Amino acid sequence: MTLLQWLKHAASRLESAGVDSFKLDAQLLAGKALQKERSWILAHGDESVDSEVEQLESLLYRRIKREPLAYILGYREFYGRSYTVSPAVLIPRQETEDLIETILSYIPNDEPLKILDIGTGSGCIPITLKLERPQTEVFAVDISSEALELARVNAKNLHAEIQFQQSDLLNSLDQNSKFNFIVSNPPYIRNDFSMAPDIKLYEPHLALFGGEKGWEIYERLVHDAPKFLLPNGYLILEHGYDQKDILIGLFTANGWRLVTAKKDISGIDRILVFNH
Ligand SMILES: C[S@@+](CC[C@H](N)C(=O)[O-])C[C@H]1O[C@@H](n2cnc3c(N)ncnc32)[C@H](O)[C@@H]1O
Repeated sequence: MTLLQWLKHAASRLESAGVDSFKLDAQLLAGKALQKERSWILAHGDESVDSEVEQLESLLYRRIKREPLAYILGYREFYGRSYTVSPAVLIPRQETEDLIETILSYIPNDEPLKILDIGTGSGCIPITLKLERPQTEVFAVDISSEALELARVNAKNLHAEIQFQQSDLLNSLDQNSKFNFIVSNPPYIRNDFSMAPDIKLYEPHLALFGGEKGWEIYERLVHDAPKFLLPNGYLILEHGYDQKDILIGLFTANGWRLVTAKKDISGIDRILVFNH
């Protein structure tokens, strides 16, 4: 069998399984199995893959079962950099790049500000912030030790100096710590929300689900965050598509001022900036 024949067969199986990006996924799976760049895969359709069919089919089978491509490949691009990912962490999302853009717009290039990321997962937020604003001091917490392990790997691979700590939100931090920015993309999905099998069956529920209402983590942050913020500090949050008004009500009723509310690149309400 040639590579091109396998790509056609794989794309057709993936399309039947309901995978939208079936052609691209087939090419990337072939790249993983053959340990080649996608450009090589595209240019070598007439190569024989007879001796690699088993490996190709085993990756194809995983994707047909709707395992996310990023977990199969072992990496995901975020803000132009490659992050190692595993089922211990949420796969970084495009909308979180919009969160990054918002945070960066508040951080001048030259001020040595302190930033804390809560629920760091793969570490994509603090690592990006540190690399884009090297003068800042960046801290990150997660309740999951496995997520932190992977975040440390990513920070090392990408040469970003981040201070990681395991903590249930702010509970284990030095109670005298103060930050100019507290940022978070916490779990915010309602427990009973129905979602694609790729997400629900494979991504860590600790990273996805916020509780019965979805916004339970924000209910804790609204009370816990003020004492960790420096004067004029900002709390910058990613949130669910239908939570903007609820969260504005929750935060403003508890002494926070809304600085701005932003949509993501798809036009969905996604980011809130508060100060206290
Ligand atoms: C939606 S994921 C975000 C991951 C990463 N920041 C990103 O944007 O891709 C939420 C993260 O919060 C962590 N988390 C959940 N509950 C937490 C808690 N109570 N305290 C700290 N981290 C928590 C999860 O382990 C997960 O890594």
